[in-house]
Amino acid sequence: MIKCRVCGGSPTEFIDFGQQPLSDAFRAPDDATDEFFFRLAVGLCPDCTMVQLMEEVPRERMFHEAYPYVSSGSAVMREHFEKTAQQLLATELSGPDPFIVEIGSNDGVMLRTIDKAGVRHLGVEPSASVAELARMQGIQVLGEFFEASSAARIRAEHGPAQVIYAANTMCHIPYVESIFQGVDTLLAPDGVFVFEDPYLGEIVARTSFDQIYDEHFYLFTARSVAAMAQRFGFELVDVRQLPVHGGEVRYTLARAGRRTPTPAVADLLAEEAGAGLADLTTLQRFAAAVGEVRHDLVALLRRLRAEGRTVAAYGATAKSATVTNYCGITPDLVAYVLDTTPAKQGRLTPGAHLPVRPAQEFRPPYPDYLLLFAWNHAEEIMAKEQAFRAAGGRWIRYTPTVHLV
Ligand code: SAM
Ligand code: TMP
Ligand code: ZN
Repeated sequence: MIKCRVCGGSPTEFIDFGQQPLSDAFRAPDDATDEFFFRLAVGLCPDCTMVQLMEEVPRERMFHEAYPYVSSGSAVMREHFEKTAQQLLATELSGPDPFIVEIGSNDGVMLRTIDKAGVRHLGVEPSASVAELARMQGIQVLGEFFEASSAARIRAEHGPAQVIYAANTMCHIPYVESIFQGVDTLLAPDGVFVFEDPYLGEIVARTSFDQIYDEHFYLFTARSVAAMAQRFGFELVDVRQLPVHGGEVRYTLARAGRRTPTPAVADLLAEEAGAGLADLTTLQRFAAAVGEVRHDLVALLRRLRAEGRTVAAYGATAKSATVTNYCGITPDLVAYVLDTTPAKQGRLTPGAHLPVRPAQEFRPPYPDYLLLFAWNHAEEIMAKEQAFRAAGGRWIRYTPTVHLV
């Protein structure tokens, strides 16, 4: 029986995607070694309401020297993180000699603005290749996993942090007890722990089931984050919905009793209660909608193949591993995937083995259809690829339902 990673309760499973590969394990075409698979299923803890994976992938299998995801690949995200850094500088980091620690700093997309402002900072980033991209810009990075032990060493060397920040990283970390111990050791008495991650409310509303994959261990709500915070001596004091990555929430936590929660917390909790986000029936309805998307997407791709149309895809996202492997999308249905990331190009997508081609070299003759895997960057990508649309190409979308654009 698996146990809730937050409270030890017994999660109830509501969706099962079957055997799935690691979402970021792109393969060389001549690689004949066995691929790692695990069972991707999601459950709801009836006690603390945390939604989480039923099976945990060891962290070293996911975050290592060859981790291919670089945060700066999107102009929208670069701007988002610059604004985030500016806001922190103007508020929490405006006192004398402030210090900020970022968990999962990746290529330094957020910390570069902090560094330019001359503020003391430390990124904590176990994936060596992306950490090196940050160091090359002069950003301070510790090449380790953030957890209780590394946090204690950071505190001993640098003193307390006014802000501990993490974007798209807390939901990747099952071992929250160790994280909160580390935050407790490192955070200044009045400091804040701020993190932003994909929001279960948006995932359910948009049927964006591809937000579920090995790295996304948790799908947070304000309610489950508040319960988690409380368990470890903290309190949810602010929430803010963000439009990035298909709908996220930024949670601000402080030590319990230190700050007055903003009205936004109660508002979001009420909205979640209305939407039934902690109810198993809501999540079972979501699972049924996901099954329909799979049915419709496979039917469309098979029809296009029968009609002799050419179909490729855009964005070799981690998310797309769930779509391709759950729907059985192999190269006979989608010939290749375009992507701007050098570490993914020339390789095959995990499990489904679709070849990844450089998006930078996308030019006529175009395929008839492009399946938009990177739908969270839709505006940016469609603006960039107007020539494809102008030449008669159509985009295939699959959230919230399968449709053509
Ligand atoms: N913050 C960036 C962003 O929002 O684009 C990067 C997000 S990326 C999806 C997640 C990052 O978290 C990876 O670079 C991974 O190596 C890192 N990571 C995973 N576990 C971690 C841990 N325990 N401590 C610090 N970083 C971690
Ligand atoms: P993400 O959804 O996890 O941010 O991944 C987006 C992927 O899409 C990443 O591999 C980079 C790729 N991408 C492009 O190929 N072109 C683009 O314009 C953008 C924004 C992303
Ligand atoms: Zn629980």
